[in-house]
Amino acid sequence: MDTHLFEENPFLHEVARRLLKAREQGQLLLQNGDSGFASAPSNIALLKYWGKKNGLRQIPVNSSLSLSLGNFRSVTCVSVRGRFFPLKNGHPDNTGARPEFTVSLNGRDEVMPAKMEKFLRNILAIYAPDIALHVLSQNNFPTACGVASSASGYAALAGAVADLLNLERFLDEAELALWINEWSRLGSGSATRSSVMANKSTKMSSSVSRFVAWELCENADARAETPPLSRTLECVAHSKFQKLRHCLLVLDSSPKATGSSEGHELAQTSVLQSLRLAQYPRRYTAMLGALAGGDFGKVAETSETDAFEMHAVMATGAVPLQYMSSLTSTALKMFVEERNRNSAEMFWTLDAGPNPHFLFDAEAAYALADVFAKLGLDDRFKNARVLLPCREVPQELIVGLEPLEKLGFRIDSMTSEPMLENCDLLTASQILCR
Ligand code: DP6
Repeated sequence: MDTHLFEENPFLHEVARRLLKAREQGQLLLQNGDSGFASAPSNIALLKYWGKKNGLRQIPVNSSLSLSLGNFRSVTCVSVRGRFFPLKNGHPDNTGARPEFTVSLNGRDEVMPAKMEKFLRNILAIYAPDIALHVLSQNNFPTACGVASSASGYAALAGAVADLLNLERFLDEAELALWINEWSRLGSGSATRSSVMANKSTKMSSSVSRFVAWELCENADARAETPPLSRTLECVAHSKFQKLRHCLLVLDSSPKATGSSEGHELAQTSVLQSLRLAQYPRRYTAMLGALAGGDFGKVAETSETDAFEMHAVMATGAVPLQYMSSLTSTALKMFVEERNRNSAEMFWTLDAGPNPHFLFDAEAAYALADVFAKLGLDDRFKNARVLLPCREVPQELIVGLEPLEKLGFRIDSMTSEPMLENCDLLTASQILCR
């Protein structure tokens, strides 16, 4: 039975036991066509999660903190296909075959990634091992552009399964949030920060910027300790940061050679990782304080230092990982020069890829437009694109979600293409209009 993803998690075990009981009492019936839906935003870390604790499942070596990218979303629908549950006489599939899991990602039928299948089988192991499931998931942002689809994807998937299982009937509000949160974390660490804002609406989120911390709890080393070893919480942000804007400079959209999960394992092989971690508690506290106190300079400096350090750790592990390209360095240099020249409130960050994220106060949009205009004059940036969050649900997404409409979900009919053409065409008003 696939329960190893959560075997050391008493909370998830307790919920599984409760659901098993409900199933035995005939309260948890899943039938062909039953479905669940959720949507979740991606996020961009200002303090990076890089490295996992050995011997623990998806527990980070340091606390992290991110800005929720409310309008870069994954929307996911899971539906039961072709089988009825519970089966007649309580007997599971008498052919011995495993019920099939299928997936359609961004409008294309795909072989379900092993990680996703393991995730779903683990969730359903105890109380619904014998259902066949179809997952339909869409992002409203391009794949491999630098916006983390695993964060929004696993948070939306966990939310959709919670909806399918009708967990609201068996858990109170806090338990339900924790269940989605914990499963998102087990799917992908950064997803736990997205799960805080998972919901059952396809509507884009409000324009207020929201920040989430994934905090390491004390004594996280003690394996026998009762969870939580980590927790997520929404951070208090000064009004100064409630309008923090974000865009992404896409320099290279080819899939990365080394994924984050492999990178996390390599982190401990870098001599710099222990230095990085030694000052992490202080850095985390400083970041929380700067966010709450409206200290833009401190948030900017802390975030840039943190991204630099993560990339230094990446580059100095047993297998050196070089995510930054020469174009990345040129763009960041230009960005910092313009920022300093204009005393503009903006800063950059970089995940495990070459595409810089820019965060800025609305008033800094003009300085940012200058950066893009200058990059546009450089031939090496002729294929660069700027990705701005769309305020509306794109048409592709709506087409892919037709099945949801049949299920009664309201889907706004609007079109919007978030990827802009050459960055030299980007003006401050374009940046501000989105
Ligand atoms: C660089 O959450 O993708 O984006 O837990 O193995 O799925 P897994 O890793 P993942 O790692 C994200 C790494 C990062 C930094 C961050 O988002 O904090």
